[in-house]
Amino acid sequence: MRGRFPRTRLRRNRMAEWSRRLVAETRLSADDLIWPVFIQEGQNRRTAVDSMPDVERLSIDQAVRAAETAVSLGIPAIALFPAVDPGLKSDDACEAFNPKGLVCRAVQAVKKAQPGLGVICDVALDPYTSHGHDGLVRDGEILNDETVAVLCKQSLALAAAGADIVAPSDMMDGRVGVIRDALESEGFKNVRILAYAAKYASALYGPFRDAVHSAGPLGAGDKRSYQMDPANGDEALREVALDIAEGADMIMVKPGLPYLDVLWRIKQAFGLPTFAYQVSGEYAMLKAAAREGWLDGDRVLMETMFCFKRAGADGIVTYAAPEVARRLGGAA
Ligand code: PBG
Repeated sequence: MRGRFPRTRLRRNRMAEWSRRLVAETRLSADDLIWPVFIQEGQNRRTAVDSMPDVERLSIDQAVRAAETAVSLGIPAIALFPAVDPGLKSDDACEAFNPKGLVCRAVQAVKKAQPGLGVICDVALDPYTSHGHDGLVRDGEILNDETVAVLCKQSLALAAAGADIVAPSDMMDGRVGVIRDALESEGFKNVRILAYAAKYASALYGPFRDAVHSAGPLGAGDKRSYQMDPANGDEALREVALDIAEGADMIMVKPGLPYLDVLWRIKQAFGLPTFAYQVSGEYAMLKAAAREGWLDGDRVLMETMFCFKRAGADGIVTYAAPEVARRLGGAA
């Protein structure tokens, strides 16, 4: 029979670097990267995030410098996450839609300095609530519709500040449609919605919660009444279908690497721009092992990027975005 060993030797194509390059099925470039950046108040201030090696919270002036780095490395977009002062957290999360709040000022500064860089803003209340939940709480219940009304105000404030993409990461039902209607009726017709459609109740968000100071307020609380059960896959397809019907332009799957099956299914089923979020815990695990010398962090990092691409990701949100871009031969 034709095609059998020794005529067929799959190793032939792998024998040389040039032929491996020739037959590679996926490509990675800086165009595939989104860089999440933590911001804080202050001037010329950079504060280390202990659980995330090489990641810092940046004051706005430093975030503007980071934006410049992103542009010089060819990274198309950054995502801003605020570590707001504890005194601004409240039960009604009103700081979330303050047009003079930290995120809105950061968006303005970044867009002014780098108009060609995409700016993504999270839509969720957890940086602003005194209890660390993504929504308003009454009698122990995370309120859906009341929260969506606040998310709407938050989205409008972010859009008015110049955000290119609002990214609801809160998993409230119906939020995408209500936000889309509000954006349309207020004249923000070009603001894109990146829906965190398949967001799981994951313990891998721990370091992120340290970074934005929401770990303390949340305490032993968990987000399982709104974020998805890691046991479920079909349900992710329902979430995505709804978000598309409600007007999402792009979809996020989160966490990343342990959820590649979900990413694959979503990309196959819907074919719209689908991003994977390599979350803080994934980043921390990799960096911690690399620091111990237990694995080659650089190579594992690049390997994970190709895994995302192979599974169908149109882009990857990663704290290592500048590092990846540099390895790919970026300028800065
Ligand atoms: C807020 C939000 C979280 C992350 C992104 N947006 C935390 C959470 O849902 O508790 C996590 C990102 C990461 O771990 O890197 N809704």
